[in-house]
Amino acid sequence: MNLIVAVDQNWAIGNKDNLLVRIPNDHKMFQQETTGKVVILGRKTMETFPGKQPLKNRTNIILSRKPDYQVKGAVVVHSIEELLKECEKYEGKDLYVIGGESIYRQLLPYCDTAHVTKIDMSYAADAYCPDLDKDEDWEITADSEEQVYFDITYHFVKYERKQDHEA
Ligand SMILES: NC(=O)c1ccc[n+]([C@@H]2O[C@H](COP(=O)([O-])OP(=O)(O)OC[C@H]3O[C@@H](n4cnc5c(N)ncnc54)[C@H](OP(=O)(O)O)[C@@H]3O)[C@@H](O)[C@H]2O)c1
Repeated sequence: MNLIVAVDQNWAIGNKDNLLVRIPNDHKMFQQETTGKVVILGRKTMETFPGKQPLKNRTNIILSRKPDYQVKGAVVVHSIEELLKECEKYEGKDLYVIGGESIYRQLLPYCDTAHVTKIDMSYAADAYCPDLDKDEDWEITADSEEQVYFDITYHFVKYERKQDHEA
């Protein structure tokens, strides 16, 4: 599984059920990376999308514990176990965990690649992604040149789960 996220210097990802900042080029990268793929997200993140609609041209799998929650054009699952069973149907297809905080935390153990947009700013925030710089299981395997959007600088950084060489 892949994880894709935009974080600030503190690995913050959101505030008051919204993104910290919208960077058009980051959005473009997100679209390129996830189009045609399977995206996995929490119900709250789903409701931040325009018109509360699933993302187009992708299979959307939404997690909610509400038994009756339904979204037209998306698959709803009610537990991590149910999600993993559902994912078996898409074997061989890239799966992307796209947030929010609760989903990143629960699915990080299943992820082996993370596409992280690292924004060189510090925002007021109430939602965070686990800090992969502090996680010894992960390493940076690619880093873009510095990107600039008005007064914001940021990088596209790829993290991968370290291989167990003794296995
Ligand atoms: N910077 C980024 O790249 C990025 C990306 C995505 C989101 N975000 C931000 O992240 C924030 C939202 O994060 P969040 O943690 O509050 O919400 P979330 O993870 O998007 O959604 C939480 C909801 O997911 C459902 N859920 C969670 N675990 C579940 C499980 N094990 N089984 C079934 N359902 C489960 C529950 O829905 P029910 O309440 O319906 O049961 C829960 O309330 C927002 O600020 C958003 O903008 C940032």
